[in-house]
Amino acid sequence: MSTRALITSALPYITGDIHIGHLVEHVQTNVYVRFRRMIGDEIAYLCADDVHGTGTMITARKQGVSEADLIARLGKAHVEDLAAFDVVFDRYGSTDVAANREVVYGIWRNLRAAGHVAEREVTQLFDPEAGCFLADRFVKGTCPVCGATDQYGDSCDRCSATYAPTDLKDARSTLTGAIPELRTAKHYFVKLEELRPVIEAWVDGQGHLHPDTARWVRNTFLVAGQPLREWDVSRPAPYFGFEIPDAPGNYFYVWLDAPCGYLATAIDWCAANGSDLATWWPRQDQPGSTQAQPETAQPGTAQPEIHHFIGKDIVYFHTLFWPATLHAGGWRLPSRVHVHGFLTVNGEKMSKSKGTFVNARTYLDAGLDPAHLRYFLASKLNGTADDFDLSLAEFEAKVNSDVVGKVVNLASRTARFVPTLVAAYPDDGGLFAAGAQAGADIARDYAATDFASAIRRIMALADRANEYVERAAPWALKKDPARAAELAQVCTVALNLFRQLAVYLAPVLPRLADQAGQLLGAPITRWDDAQRPVTGNPIGPFGRLTDRVDPAKLAKMIELSLPKEAPAPAAPAAAAPASTPAAAPAEPVAATIAYDDFAKIDLRVARIVTAEEVPKAKKILKLTCDLGSLGQRTIFAGIKAGYPEPAKLANRLIVVCANLAPRQMSFGLSEGMALAAGGTQPQELFLLAPDAGAQPGQRVM
Ligand code: 2FM
Ligand code: ZN
Repeated sequence: MSTRALITSALPYITGDIHIGHLVEHVQTNVYVRFRRMIGDEIAYLCADDVHGTGTMITARKQGVSEADLIARLGKAHVEDLAAFDVVFDRYGSTDVAANREVVYGIWRNLRAAGHVAEREVTQLFDPEAGCFLADRFVKGTCPVCGATDQYGDSCDRCSATYAPTDLKDARSTLTGAIPELRTAKHYFVKLEELRPVIEAWVDGQGHLHPDTARWVRNTFLVAGQPLREWDVSRPAPYFGFEIPDAPGNYFYVWLDAPCGYLATAIDWCAANGSDLATWWPRQDQPGSTQAQPETAQPGTAQPEIHHFIGKDIVYFHTLFWPATLHAGGWRLPSRVHVHGFLTVNGEKMSKSKGTFVNARTYLDAGLDPAHLRYFLASKLNGTADDFDLSLAEFEAKVNSDVVGKVVNLASRTARFVPTLVAAYPDDGGLFAAGAQAGADIARDYAATDFASAIRRIMALADRANEYVERAAPWALKKDPARAAELAQVCTVALNLFRQLAVYLAPVLPRLADQAGQLLGAPITRWDDAQRPVTGNPIGPFGRLTDRVDPAKLAKMIELSLPKEAPAPAAPAAAAPASTPAAAPAEPVAATIAYDDFAKIDLRVARIVTAEEVPKAKKILKLTCDLGSLGQRTIFAGIKAGYPEPAKLANRLIVVCANLAPRQMSFGLSEGMALAAGGTQPQELFLLAPDAGAQPGQRVM
C-alpha cells in the first residue's frame, strides 16, 4: 500500500530573491519528493511565499505598488527561478490567502478559549523615519550574549541565542538606518509554558527530529527548571498581516501565520484538486488540551505523513512554536522536521562583496547547468544539520569526474556504435545484478535523506561499469566487422548499466533520467526500473546529455554577483597625450568633506612592474605594482581603452589608493586602485603620475 506524505520546504520571504542558500533546501526537499514518488508514494509537494510583515509593507510603499501586486510579481519570479532547477511544486501559494486567515483565526480562538493568551504592554523599537515598529529582522546590532556584531533582532547566528530586539546593543533599523526609539503598546502573548507537555512529547517522539537536533532542542530550549518564555504573537498597526479579530489595530506577528501557510497551502491544494484534506493533514481534535499527543504518522504507516524541510536557523520556530500552534488548532503535528546546515562558498559565509552570494538567476545567467548544482548539493547533503561548503574548484572537479566522466561517458562511448540493443541480455559477469541488488541500500539512504551516501554507492557502481567498458573496449571492437555481435553485446551491457545509474540518480538528475529513458526506449519512472535490463529496443538518437563545467562560467557567476558599483578605474603614468583635448565639461564638485575624511585615504606612489591584458576582460588591465616597503600588489584597473599597448606601462610611476578594501573580481583579487583622470570618451584615460624622483611606497598627501 502506498503512503501519503505532505512535504514542504520553508516558505521563502517574498522580499528576497531565491539564492543558492535556498537551493540547498529546495534541492534537498525535491530529491526526497522525487525519490518518494519513484517508490510509489503519493506526495503533495507544497510551498508558498512568506509575505507578511513590515518588510513587505515598506517595499511596496517604496515602489508605490500595493502589497498584493508586489507579492504577485515577486512570487512569480520565485516560482520561475525554482522551476529552472527542476523544483516544481504541486502548489506554490502565499501566506496572505483566505485559507490562511481561517487557519490562524481558528488557532487563535482555541488559544483564547483555553486561556493560553496573556496581554501586556510592551516597549518595542520604533523606527521614527519609517513610522512603524520594527520587526525583529529589521533591527541589527550586537548580540547581547556573545558580542557578535551585525546580528538580527531575534536571534544570533553565531551563538544561536534568542532574545528580544530591545536587548540588542547598538541597534539600527535596517529599513532606514535610523536609531530606533522605544515606544510602548499592548501586545498579545501565547503562554508557551502551558503547552510545554505537548512540545516535549513531540520533540521526544519517535523520528520527529534527527537525534542530534532533538538533543540540541532539549538542551537549548527545554531546559528543566527554566520556563518557556511567553511568545509575543502580535504587532500594533501599521503592519501588513492579518488583523487580530478581537483586538482591532493589532496584527498577528508574521511568525505565527508563516508556518500556518503550510497548512493553508494544503487546504487550497486539496480544494483545487478535489482531495479530502483529512487524508493529507488530519485533524487531531482535542483543542485546548495541554495533554501530550505524540502520535504522528510514521514513515511506513498507513497514516499520512507531514514532513517539513528547514534550515537550522529556524529550528526554534518549527520545534517549539509550530507543534504548539498546531496542537492549539487541533491539527496533526508533523511527522518529521528535517534540518539542514548552512552553505558556505569557498570556505566562507556567502558574501555579497566577494560575489559569493549567488542568486539562482545569476547561476543560470552565467550559463551554468542547474543539474550540476543539484548533483553537487545532493552529494553533500547527508541528513545532518552540519554546514557544508560549495568550493567552486571541488564543484568543477566533482561534476566533471562523476556526472560527465563516470555516468554520461558510459553512454557517449557506446550509444552510437550499434542501432539496437541485443534481444537477450548478455553475461556481464554479474554487474547488472549487483547494481540491482544495491538498489535497496541506495533507497534506504534516500529515505534517510543521506543523499551523500546514496551518491557514493552509485558512483561505486559507476566505477565498476567503467572498468567493464575499459576492458571490453567497444571502440576497438567497432574496427573489426567480425566482432559486430560482441560489440552489440558490450554496448547493450554498458547502456543498461548507464540506465541503471540514471534510475538511481533520477531523484537528483531528473533530466538525465528522462534522456536515458528515451535513449533506450524505456522511460524511467519507478525505482524498480533499475531491476530489469532493457533488451531488443532500438537505441534512440544520442544528443548531448550535459557538458563539462566551464570554469569561465563559474568566474562569470562570481562577476555577475559582485555589487554593481563601477570597478576600479585607473590611468597611465606621466605620458602626455598626443593631442590636446577640448576642455572637460563642467561636472559639479562633490559634497565637501572634512580633512579627517580625506586623511582616511592612503594614497601611495607605486611603480608598475608589469601590465598585462586579462583574457576576456574588454576594459581591464592587470597591473602588478611595487609599493616599496608595502610590497607588491595586484590591481585590476579599467584603463585598457587608454593603454592599448600595456607592456609600455612597465616601470611607470603611478598613484594608487593603498587602503581600499580588496575586491574579489572574477579574474582575481584587486588590492587597490590606480588613480586616473577620465574624459568623455573611453580612450580618454590619464594615469596620474608623480614627478621623477618619487619613490614607490611614498605617501601622497
Ligand atoms: O526564514 C525564513 O526564510 C522564513 N521565511 C521561513 C518561514 S518557514 C515557515 F514557517 F513558514
Ligand atoms: Zn551571539
